[in-house]
Amino acid sequence: MKILFVGDVFSKLGRETFAKNLQRIKEEKKINFIIVNGENISHGKGMNEGHYHWLVSQGVNVITLGNHSFQQRSIYNVIDNASNIVRPYNFKEGPGKGYTTINYNGLKITVFQMIGKIFMDENNYSPFEKTNELLENVKSDIYICDFHAETTSEKIAFGYAFDGKVNAILGTHTHVQTSDARILENGTAYITDVGMTGPLDGVIGVKKSVIIDRYMNQGKQKFEPEETGKTQFCAVIIEIDDRTLKTTTIDPIYVIE
Ligand SMILES: [Fe+2]
Ligand SMILES: [Fe+2]
Repeated sequence: MKILFVGDVFSKLGRETFAKNLQRIKEEKKINFIIVNGENISHGKGMNEGHYHWLVSQGVNVITLGNHSFQQRSIYNVIDNASNIVRPYNFKEGPGKGYTTINYNGLKITVFQMIGKIFMDENNYSPFEKTNELLENVKSDIYICDFHAETTSEKIAFGYAFDGKVNAILGTHTHVQTSDARILENGTAYITDVGMTGPLDGVIGVKKSVIIDRYMNQGKQKFEPEETGKTQFCAVIIEIDDRTLKTTTIDPIYVIE
């Protein structure tokens, strides 16, 4: 089976390029299952109720979040009852769940998310300890992990630590696609960061003038998404053998339009 995982969809340009590329890729690559990181889909911060329903209407099977999980108030209307929204499992508190198990063609697919600690909220539980806990308690045929973290070293170490125990460890959060997609020695598909789906000409999604002003003049302008210019669509396709349940390939996708 082929699973498409789309990196952080960012605001209006993200939604546009997501919808456009999704339909094409679904047909061309015969995708069976779609996972999307939606933590930036609503104005760059969080996912509101409307955009949640919109993603579902596009055919998305599971939506993962991240550090911006609870920034849109209306997410509280849906997050506790939705079986297709996943926020970091190792959060100390907050509504929603850190994993979901979906039955697909007789196979159990578990999608879970962990958040890193380095240069992020140090109060979260260890993603390493919590992944061990989850793998012990949740039995599944296939496991896909969204590792939402800032540093390359924490992500790579996490990849090796769970190599062979999960089908794929797909990094998110930095919004820049890395060129290290590979199958690790014991069979886990790995990429440090899938990248972001949204504006190409901002600073990881935000209007570049705002961010340059912060760095150069200690500016305090509000974050606004970049809403003009080119777009990028960042994703990976992983293929899993339905009989052996082994991951056979990971192919990155990077489309600039
Ligand atoms: Fe993000
Ligand atoms: Fe993030």
